[in-house]
Amino acid sequence: MSKKLAVMLSGRGSNFVAIADTIASGALQGCHIDVVLSDKPDAPGLEEARRRGIDTMVCARRQYASKQEWEQAMIDGLQARNVDFIILAGFMRILGEGFINAFPRRILNIHPSLLPSFIGLDAQQQALDYGVRYSGCTVHFVTNDLDAGPIIVQKVVPVLPADDAAALSRRILEQEHVAYSEAIALVVAGKYEIQGRRVLLK
Ligand code: GRF
Repeated sequence: MSKKLAVMLSGRGSNFVAIADTIASGALQGCHIDVVLSDKPDAPGLEEARRRGIDTMVCARRQYASKQEWEQAMIDGLQARNVDFIILAGFMRILGEGFINAFPRRILNIHPSLLPSFIGLDAQQQALDYGVRYSGCTVHFVTNDLDAGPIIVQKVVPVLPADDAAALSRRILEQEHVAYSEAIALVVAGKYEIQGRRVLLK
């Protein structure tokens, strides 16, 4: 049966669009986007989901008295839909243990650097400031340590002399759009095992 994906985003949603387009093209099979969930009621990615006829959910942090209640509302909403995988695509809040433990090994994130380098915010600027010659993106399983779960797919891009953060971000983003669908195809097919930190293809 087609696996249900929930995409969580806070902003423009270009990774969401790339995944949705890849599914629509037939190049990513065995799954569909069941719902797009955002913490930002005005996220452009939500509007794009509605335009495509995909269900949306909004859980703004400020609607809830505590982080725990906010996370529980999201857990309840996602569990009620029986989603198989949760795809973090520019979701700009850090999820707590309660949320992560509710979906063990079923939450994926994309980060715009070659992890474990440059975790956290502004990874592209961090790469420029450090002076690395190559950067890229990483799709990984989400664990309770920030940007540190087992790595599923990485893509490398060069850092060019004329780059500023915007130029490097654009080059990385092109690869993000390829990497995320590759990683989703792998987990949806279930042909992998996790040994320690390593995701090994079966
Ligand atoms: C991407 O750079 C992603 O790596 C990071 O947030 C950004 C989201 O971009 N986690 P978009 O909303 O998918 O366009």
